[in-house]
Amino acid sequence: MTEPLTGRHVLITAGPTREPIDPVRFISNHSSGRQGYAIAAACAALGARVTLVAGPTALPDPDGVETIHIETARDMLAAVETALPADVFIAVAAVADWRPAEPADRKLKLDKASFSSLPLVENPDILKTISQLKAGRPGLVIGFAAETHDVEALAIAKRKRKGCDWIVANDVSGDVMGGAENAVLLVTEAGSEAWDRAEKGRIAEQLAARIATALG
Ligand code: C5P
Repeated sequence: MTEPLTGRHVLITAGPTREPIDPVRFISNHSSGRQGYAIAAACAALGARVTLVAGPTALPDPDGVETIHIETARDMLAAVETALPADVFIAVAAVADWRPAEPADRKLKLDKASFSSLPLVENPDILKTISQLKAGRPGLVIGFAAETHDVEALAIAKRKRKGCDWIVANDVSGDVMGGAENAVLLVTEAGSEAWDRAEKGRIAEQLAARIATALG
């Protein structure tokens, strides 16, 4: 039987990135990767060829998904660009917005002035870069937004700012970060719809089904 996403290539980023300070230290965040991994599995279950570009997580590679492991935001962008073309791009990763300007090639010593300031530079915005591709932009580009307040207004603004087609907005005022459940607002050109709070696996299935409908 042909599944609804058979013949489609879905490219997904997930997890945190790690930005080196020196060989033993880095800047990162608490992203577990669970939502992105669940979306990868859900799209594969609907027949898609799935490429998952993942930062460091504690999760096993999802079955039937080509998983590419990276550490930094710049490596994540490069892996995404290499994996194109895709029918759908879903940016779920919690990319570190900043990285140390000049990572040291030797372990920094605390007796030095090294830690009194840490110059940072901005990382590439992967979602925005892919959304704004002139050639080879995936037909459907989906971003995520984690907000603690004004979820809808901020998601609508983010959709415009990034140039993506959909924003999946999470209300992270509860225990969503790293937790098992998610409360989602889907913002598209047509408007916003609130999904019932559910397990991340269920949210992933709903999103995969919704993508299949959109692609027709
Ligand atoms: O701007 P903000 O980080 O809130 O946007 C979140 C969305 O943008 C997520 O979809 C995230 O994966 C994506 N993003 C990205 N590259 C960045 C920052 C965020 O792809 N450097």
